[in-house]
Amino acid sequence: MKTKLLLFLLMPFLIFHKPVCVLSSETYPLAPSPQVPPFSPFPTSMSASSPGLVMGSEQQQMDSHKKMVIAIAVASTSLGAVILCVLCIWIYYTKFPSKSSNRKNVKNSDAEKGLASASILSKFSSIKMVGKKGCVPIIDYKQIEKATGNFKESSILGEGGFGCVYKAHLDDNLDVAVKKLNCENQFAEQEFENELDLLSKIQHPNVISLLGCSSNGETRIIVYELMQNGSLETQLHGSSHGSALNWHLRMKIALDTARGLKYLHEHCCPPVIHRDLKSSNILLDTKFNAKLSDFGLAITDGSQNKNNIKLSGTLGYLAPEYLLDGKLTDKSDVYAFGVVLLELLLGRKPVEKLAPTQCQSIVTWAMPQLTDRSKLPNIVDPVIKNTMDPKHLYQVAAVAVLCVQPEPSYRPLIADVLHSLIPLVPVELGGTMRVPQLTQQVLPADPPVDFNQ
Ligand SMILES: Nc1ncnc2c1ncn2[C@@H]1O[C@H](COP(=O)(O)OP(=O)(O)OP(=O)(O)O)[C@@H](O)[C@H]1O
Ligand SMILES: [Mg+2]
Repeated sequence: MKTKLLLFLLMPFLIFHKPVCVLSSETYPLAPSPQVPPFSPFPTSMSASSPGLVMGSEQQQMDSHKKMVIAIAVASTSLGAVILCVLCIWIYYTKFPSKSSNRKNVKNSDAEKGLASASILSKFSSIKMVGKKGCVPIIDYKQIEKATGNFKESSILGEGGFGCVYKAHLDDNLDVAVKKLNCENQFAEQEFENELDLLSKIQHPNVISLLGCSSNGETRIIVYELMQNGSLETQLHGSSHGSALNWHLRMKIALDTARGLKYLHEHCCPPVIHRDLKSSNILLDTKFNAKLSDFGLAITDGSQNKNNIKLSGTLGYLAPEYLLDGKLTDKSDVYAFGVVLLELLLGRKPVEKLAPTQCQSIVTWAMPQLTDRSKLPNIVDPVIKNTMDPKHLYQVAAVAVLCVQPEPSYRPLIADVLHSLIPLVPVELGGTMRVPQLTQQVLPADPPVDFNQ
């Protein structure tokens, strides 16, 4: 491409250059002969001193001189233009090397975005960075110990399978969440590496931001942005039993989650399947903006044989085809999303214990009642019962029923789910519904910003 461009630009020079050569070789042989005087730039003085007989040949010579002067002028102008063009092209390619975008470059720019997100910490002068893992800043372990009060119990935000998450107060008044993983077993280490690798490349308003990492012996640390309202699981099934979440906020959380998933499935290159979507992995900030977290189990399309991976995830959220046959697709995430939607509607856990040895899944329990309009209002979470337009309730229930279909091909794509939810969420919360009577009591203080669907 560059060579063709260069040839194209050199064309005028070559065209103009040829006649100059012809002229000079025909009129003026390389070694001047006695009959032909050498070239002089002053033809007028020459004609004044020449006898009449040689006037014809002198006139010819003068014409030739003129032609050559013009040719030289044109040639040097062309050459100047060519040099200028080549210079411009060189500057363009050295300044904007990635302008010719292709899929490889999209991935690179994702990584750059990740780097931008991770570099939030570097703005804080007192935070000691000791290196980089990929493009993730490594934070001094001692500083993390200090910021969590030596991992004191009162700093614990929650507990997961591989360790606890702590609230940490870094200098410069920055509060963050610190996940401390005990990597004695190889799975924890793999999940740690996987989470860092994926989250460092992803930046989206509905995906948690990775700020840094650290390690000490077998302990691994991941530092995230702090989500002040904890997880959806804590909000729904914790001590407040969902009382902080009205109908509109619940629909907003469902919409945000769908936006995050759509980004993973359709905008990441290669696409990402989360594989562990559940209410404890949906985190809420001060304004109840929802963000997906926990990418330890997430896989990218093509990174490994999706039909031959270790069965992982959380009971109650696993799609039947994945649980029974290990078949994993983006529709597995859609199934888990359907279960979360049922939790939001019904306020029930995905798996309820009926007796010490007997469990019941929310899907099998709710399915017959979800499709019966007379029964549906009776199973809605008492906290939000009768607070919504019944039409909207039926619509959301229908979406949930579709998402948890046993046959994956009957489930919608997350993009379809997203578009069905947008009209049910007030504009102030990121949807398109106009609710004039909506007061600040049911909305967070400020509207959320910048939704990248
Ligand atoms: N960035 C964060 N901000 C605020 N709270 C968080 C943050 N990350 C996690 N938490 C809290 O810590 C809890 C534990 O998180 P963790 O991801 O370790 O386990 P989990 O998702 O509950 O379970 P599992 O290990 O099965 O995935 C979460 O449920 C949430 O309440
Ligand atoms: Mg989690």
